[in-house]
Amino acid sequence: MQIDTVTLKNTQGVTMPKIGIGTWHMGENPQSAKNEVGALRHARDLGFTHFDTAEMYGEGGAEEILGRAFAGQDRDGLFLTSKVYPWNAAKNDMIAACEQSLKRLRTDHIDLYLLHWPGSVPFEETLEDARLLLDQEKIRAFGISNFDTEGLRQIMDAGMGDLVSVNQVMHNIPHRGVELDLFPFMAEQGITAVAYSPLEIGPTTKIPGIAAIAREENLTVAQLVLAWHMTRGLAVPIPKSSRIEHLDDLAAAAQVQLSPSTLDRIDALAPLPPQPVPLEIRLAGWQDCSARDEADRPGHTGPGRERCELRSGEAFTQGQHLPHEAGRSSFLRDANRFGSAKALAQYLILKTS
Ligand SMILES: NC(=O)c1ccc[n+]([C@@H]2O[C@H](COP(=O)([O-])OP(=O)(O)OC[C@H]3O[C@@H](n4cnc5c(N)ncnc54)[C@H](OP(=O)(O)O)[C@@H]3O)[C@@H](O)[C@H]2O)c1
Repeated sequence: MQIDTVTLKNTQGVTMPKIGIGTWHMGENPQSAKNEVGALRHARDLGFTHFDTAEMYGEGGAEEILGRAFAGQDRDGLFLTSKVYPWNAAKNDMIAACEQSLKRLRTDHIDLYLLHWPGSVPFEETLEDARLLLDQEKIRAFGISNFDTEGLRQIMDAGMGDLVSVNQVMHNIPHRGVELDLFPFMAEQGITAVAYSPLEIGPTTKIPGIAAIAREENLTVAQLVLAWHMTRGLAVPIPKSSRIEHLDDLAAAAQVQLSPSTLDRIDALAPLPPQPVPLEIRLAGWQDCSARDEADRPGHTGPGRERCELRSGEAFTQGQHLPHEAGRSSFLRDANRFGSAKALAQYLILKTS
């Protein structure tokens, strides 16, 4: 499989493959580890060389799965992205967090290191560590994730954009708001967009008429969605799969170019919102109820609280509410009063700082 690359701004000519494979929810269950390692090796055999992970995924477990999958293999042909928790992005803390990620990934460098979402640590501090990590060649490029237009504009206006090469945000057929304001601003700044949760299979399949278009194109819905990303080229998609047959489907779809009329038909079924919407984000999964309850207790200040607050598998948009299950947490019920993802994030930052 032939995959084009994009050269990242603010780097020494670092190139990133225009499709990657995600790893969220890998490394969470020891019984699935062998299968996940096999899936990642299969993905590489198919020609995927770009893999996306984070210290958050499985609390380092996904990084370990990647480390196991590619131990002893040619490192030069791989492009690895990892992400730092916002509360690990303070001066010196990010160096330590990166060292841990390197160890788990069994490598001496990360190709792209992202601040996972905006936090309360001043961005200048994060940049100081990013500069050091770049100088030491422990990372080859630095970027951000889940920053909206205003957050990115603030960074640029403050003259702090000189290391930022990428912003990774949610972008898929049902969640296209970023195309209105964020993507044009990023393009103006030369910052590359990476699309997370690019498939969004459940909600996409429910769009009336989508399955019929996929059938006509001789594609599955997942393949149609991936081809939609690849044809449009607005952002680099990083679909996740732990299944050999799904990876085969993704590899085939990565080469498909949809016709302008097919793109128009998809557009008609899932049009852009009429005006810009708050950045839509997918919050982290947090499955451990006892730890969540512990984090809910008054006076608890540990990291469990932050993770607890971020628990949900749902996307948050203005006016949307937390799923009922997550609402069991009183803390989340509080957060639920906030309509937008941004307001919720700000609330979480205030509560945890
Ligand atoms: N920066 C951030 O805050 C952030 C947030 C969310 C995600 N991410 C990154 O983005 C990656 C992708 O996002 P995501 O995992 O949320 O969602 P996604 O890639 O849109 O969807 C993943 C789901 O689609 C299924 N799938 C994959 N290929 C398929 C196929 N060919 N046919 C049918 N189903 C298929 C997968 O199941 P199987 O495994 O069974 O195939 C999985 O359930 C993550 O893994 C992570 O690396 C970043």
